[in-house]
Amino acid sequence: MNGGFLIAKCDVIDVSKLYGSGVAEVRALDAVSLEIDTGEFTVISGPSGSGKTTLLNLIGCLDTPTAGTILLEDTDISSLGERALARVRARRIGFVFQSFNLIPVLSALENVETALHLAHTEGNRREKAAEMLEAVGLKDQMKRRPTQMSGGQQQRIAVARALVKNPALVIADEPTANLDTATGAQVLDVMRTMNQKRGVTFLFSTHDPRVMERASRIVSLRDGRVEDDRKVEKPVGAANSGPSSQE
Ligand SMILES: Nc1ncnc2c1ncn2[C@@H]1O[C@H](COP(=O)(O)OP(=O)(O)O)[C@@H](O)[C@H]1O
Ligand SMILES: [Mg+2]
Repeated sequence: MNGGFLIAKCDVIDVSKLYGSGVAEVRALDAVSLEIDTGEFTVISGPSGSGKTTLLNLIGCLDTPTAGTILLEDTDISSLGERALARVRARRIGFVFQSFNLIPVLSALENVETALHLAHTEGNRREKAAEMLEAVGLKDQMKRRPTQMSGGQQQRIAVARALVKNPALVIADEPTANLDTATGAQVLDVMRTMNQKRGVTFLFSTHDPRVMERASRIVSLRDGRVEDDRKVEKPVGAANSGPSSQE
């Protein structure tokens, strides 16, 4: 079924991405290969400009590589048309951005519900959205609009919006960059819990040590290349029964 497949794993094979041309050409990614497995809580780290956002956008089907192949499950995403790609994004992938990207005129509840409309899910959407907001600790703030809420609360709405459609993969681009230490940790704990309870795969970009210490794997980028790729034995916040647990 077009766009309906599960994303159990993701293969990035020899992927390069060039922006611009001639003297203005930038090689944002240079022959990157990476395999992401189900249930990972993986961080892509690296200095500003190293290609983190570019890589996440390619895996999230928001952009296409200049060279190389990306397989979601076993489907080459370059074989999918625009509509099929839009369907994959709406139904299978949850996005969390640094600047939250919520709709200011809608309540928290309506923001989360919108994701269910776009994903064309069955069942009571309002109820599902409310349950998800409760799961991220916003039970009593559902009727409020994002502008009436703190940064941490807004990012928790965004996490609820990403998770409510029950995606296989959540892509989060520097999700804690605009949050203070305590709220950043809270938002991360919510994501870690979802990772362990539901087996949702998470892929982050960050240079935030709080995110890195919770990761099950850290991939370091530099100048568009993978410089280091290592598994973490005992991430902070990992429960014994979690998919990344070593016990
Ligand atoms: N749309 C674009 N047009 C031109 N260059 C871009 C574009 N997006 C990113 N770049 C360049 O590609 C490189 C990687 O950027 P990016 O993926 O945003 O890195 P990071 O997220 O690690 O900061 C940088 O040199 C950046 O300037
Ligand atoms: Mg970036």
